[in-house]
Amino acid sequence: MSFPTVRMRRLRRTESLRAMLSQVQIQPSSLIYPIFVDETITEPVPIVTMQGYFRYPLDQVIGEGKAALEQGVKSVLLFGIPAEKNETGSGAYTKNGVVQKAARKLKDEFKEKLVIIGDVCLCEYTNHGHCGVINKEGEVQNDETLELLGKTAVSQVESGVDIVAPSAMMDGQIFAIREFLDEAGFEQTPILAYSAKYASAFYGPFREAAESTPKFGNRRSYQMSQGSVHEALREIELDINEGADMIMVKPALAYLDIISLAKASFDVPIVAYNVSGEYSMVKAAALNGWIDEKSVVQEILTGIKRAGADLIITYHAKDVKNWLK
Ligand code: PBG
Repeated sequence: MSFPTVRMRRLRRTESLRAMLSQVQIQPSSLIYPIFVDETITEPVPIVTMQGYFRYPLDQVIGEGKAALEQGVKSVLLFGIPAEKNETGSGAYTKNGVVQKAARKLKDEFKEKLVIIGDVCLCEYTNHGHCGVINKEGEVQNDETLELLGKTAVSQVESGVDIVAPSAMMDGQIFAIREFLDEAGFEQTPILAYSAKYASAFYGPFREAAESTPKFGNRRSYQMSQGSVHEALREIELDINEGADMIMVKPALAYLDIISLAKASFDVPIVAYNVSGEYSMVKAAALNGWIDEKSVVQEILTGIKRAGADLIITYHAKDVKNWLK
């Protein structure tokens, strides 16, 4: 059968028909809101590279949690900017670290209403800006880093973090963290693994925001190369075998094929990270009046979801409730 019997436009005729037949809906409850907490400030500081985004002082995180919940967003992802950085990134795993303090405040205030996710990595806490400890030659040491990631995860969970999200791209990090958590009695705490994390220029604005640009070299010896597909599937499979409860593909827009492959290949929740550079491009163009922000954000989130993401980490999280169709 074909035209004129078949007319595809019949089902596109009215707004209600189109809405009824849309296969992809975005719910604010499937969005995760990233918060930058800076222990060195007393007022929110605008992040120049991420228009409309701020670093918040510790005493304003509750306000941000509240704002997220009011928009139907149930989960936040915490990043910390510590007062001091050092060689081993000890600010990541100290009891009074910035993320630990923020998590305690949020947990006290919101209890189980808000899901607190902690990014587990060292790059915001090391003075060299790499995601693990380095040797004299400046190479990132995998196995030495695992213990520090394990300690970071445990100290975050002790402070109220509900889900830990390791993003350092060290081999064996999921297994190590699972062991550390279980040992500490946190066998119920899920791990969201940044499994397929590509070495990407789209992280640029984030690194400005979190002051985590490597002082030398780059992250290409631990984050994935842009052209690899098999490696992404392998990273995901390994992480699931090591005990990951959810996996992530990051960035989102240039890697929609990877999201879609992951969805087709694995039966775990798939999370996509709509990263800082993706946000900044939309904001910059919208600010110039070159695109319509609301429609473009709706379209981007729909595309990421359609590719197969169950959850989306996005800097647009708090804005979209009234935009979603
Ligand atoms: C920490 C981390 C990064 C991002 C999330 N966790 C930075 C990086 O790997 O350089 C980037 C997020 C974004 O760009 O929005 N390792």
